[in-house]
Amino acid sequence: MVRAQPVPAHVAVIMDGNGRWATGKGLPRVAGHREGVKAARAMVRAADAIGLRFLTLYAFSTENWNRPEDEVTTLMRLLEESIYRELPELMSRNVRLRVIGRPTGVPLPVRRGIDHVVHETRANTGLTLLMAFNYGGRDELLDAFRALARRVRAGDLEPEQISEAHVGGALYTDGIPDPDLLIRTSGEMRISNFLLWQIAYTELWMTTTLWPDFGPSDLYRAIADFQRRTRRFGGV
Ligand code: IPE
Ligand code: IPE
Ligand code: MG
Repeated sequence: MVRAQPVPAHVAVIMDGNGRWATGKGLPRVAGHREGVKAARAMVRAADAIGLRFLTLYAFSTENWNRPEDEVTTLMRLLEESIYRELPELMSRNVRLRVIGRPTGVPLPVRRGIDHVVHETRANTGLTLLMAFNYGGRDELLDAFRALARRVRAGDLEPEQISEAHVGGALYTDGIPDPDLLIRTSGEMRISNFLLWQIAYTELWMTTTLWPDFGPSDLYRAIADFQRRTRRFGGV
């Protein structure tokens, strides 16, 4: 018997294809990033409208620093602008912002903006928006292993006692359930260093649609597909 799944609690999105969207229209790549911000805003509204508990958006990876300097600078400036601009709407929608990623290396004005919005929205009880920014899955695991190693060295934990809960609790996503559904746009069939530990049993949904063209109806289609799937978690 096929049992319908409920609406997923946590959807994570690899927002990919901004550059190709722009190039395909004869525009500079940064024009694609501007459109990408609009698509991200629409996604937050849609996630809120259908009652998702957690939405994680992959905005900038640790590898994205390898891009040309002017693209990185523009991305940082875009983020700084948008974060302040979105605050009133996040407040009115009761959305809480959390950031996952390493704070080090992020330009100070961007960090200040992020910290401000995280602080202002901290008591909101609706959708939790997790922004993966300067995020790398392997860095996250390294940070967790180092934290656990320090606890072992301090005599607070025995190596044999280390459980999945200890590792999960040492990740940036401490306290947040693993994603039920991972969406990737732009046709790439890879994970690109995203949430490596957390996606062990996440359902994957890939589309060739480029991120700036991805709208609420695409999210609803992904969720409807998810609801028709049978999750077995290794069982029968
Ligand atoms: C995703 O779009 C946005 C970021 C990684 C910041 P891309 O910029 O990767 O677009 P493509 O993949 O080059 O088309
Ligand atoms: C993944 O996209 C990172 C984000 C969406 C922020 P990339 O465009 O960086 O991934 P690759 O390089 O195609 O794997
Ligand atoms: Mg890309």
